[in-house]
Amino acid sequence: MAIPKLIDVEISSDRKSITLAWNNNESARFHAIWLRDNCLDANTRDPQSHQRLLTIQDIPENISMAQAGICESRNSLEFTFTPNDYSSEFPSSWLYQYRYSANKLPENGFVAAGIELWNEDLANNLPRASWKALLDDDNALAQWLRNVRRYGFALIYDLPVTDNTVSRVVERFGFVRTTNYGRYFDVRAEVNASNLAYTSLGLQVHTDNPYRDPVPGLQLLHCLQSDADGGESTLVDGFKAALVLREENRVAFDLLSSHSVRFEFCDEGKANLSAKAPLITLSPEGEILEVRFNNRSTAPFNLPFDVMEDYYAAYRAFAEILERPEMEVSFHMKAGELFIVDNRRVMHGRKGYSGAGSRHLQGCYADRDGLYSKLAVLSQNNLT
Ligand code: OGA
Ligand code: ZN
Repeated sequence: MAIPKLIDVEISSDRKSITLAWNNNESARFHAIWLRDNCLDANTRDPQSHQRLLTIQDIPENISMAQAGICESRNSLEFTFTPNDYSSEFPSSWLYQYRYSANKLPENGFVAAGIELWNEDLANNLPRASWKALLDDDNALAQWLRNVRRYGFALIYDLPVTDNTVSRVVERFGFVRTTNYGRYFDVRAEVNASNLAYTSLGLQVHTDNPYRDPVPGLQLLHCLQSDADGGESTLVDGFKAALVLREENRVAFDLLSSHSVRFEFCDEGKANLSAKAPLITLSPEGEILEVRFNNRSTAPFNLPFDVMEDYYAAYRAFAEILERPEMEVSFHMKAGELFIVDNRRVMHGRKGYSGAGSRHLQGCYADRDGLYSKLAVLSQNNLT
């Protein structure tokens, strides 16, 4: 993007803010206190760590603009504050990038920029990459990580069919989150299973471990063996489903996003986990941040008597949307394949399986910050 040129600056009559104009017809207002807080100079930010040295109390409460002007040769804004005569400078590009005065809050129930909501149509174009490409080529890795951010899931094929490969995948972009299930865990039918995932039963689409605080942001499942009948994997975009619910049944959406429920998991003598959260978490601004949905591990709802029946109706309405065929992408994982999901957004499930053959997956958890950080670092290195 070409950097727009600063062409005008005007100090407001109370001197508490300025209005800037660029040569692309855009303008924006900035407060004196905001400008002081964000100065880029070495008194304000440590040049080495780039961390802020200033505290809020270091800024005079009555700060205002003494003077502001454009430096044409550097395409920057120079200014001095009063009462302490502090001077600094911002590049036009920085001010343009961080301009805020045009921000209007979207209506309650929106998703972050960069997220692409999906339904069954994504089946024609599943985000996927070979393990070799991800290992050898940082560009391919950046593309794959970007897809995880955009769609909340992605696939890998041609992985070795060996123990613990799933953690090696995580180590390519981030950090394994160890839990009571271990660094990684086997998903196959077991006798006396401690979790229904370790049986051959079907699993309704769900997010994993809603009984944990914080919930693991990422889950990976790697297929080592898959010659049983059935066992297809299903994925649903939980944010898309939440927005469908909002569209069709606003009362239900509001109920699910305004009440918390508890989730729990107990493995006798080994783990006893419990966490409380709404099924749909909104930010204070109304952005959809997270969905938690897991029929196996909801604790008895503890809601006001007069809310209980309506809440159950809302819960049912959400579940019915999640199970609509047009909402889901489903596939039969083969040995050497893996999927990753954003466990705060995309739900996964499986059909029941049986027959003479076996089915064996290995799973692993990780957090999203490591993945986003790796993506940001790769992007800074100008990988596309
Ligand atoms: C799980 C799970 C799905 C599968 O282990 O969390 O949902 O396909 N497994 O076995
Ligand atoms: Zn699961």
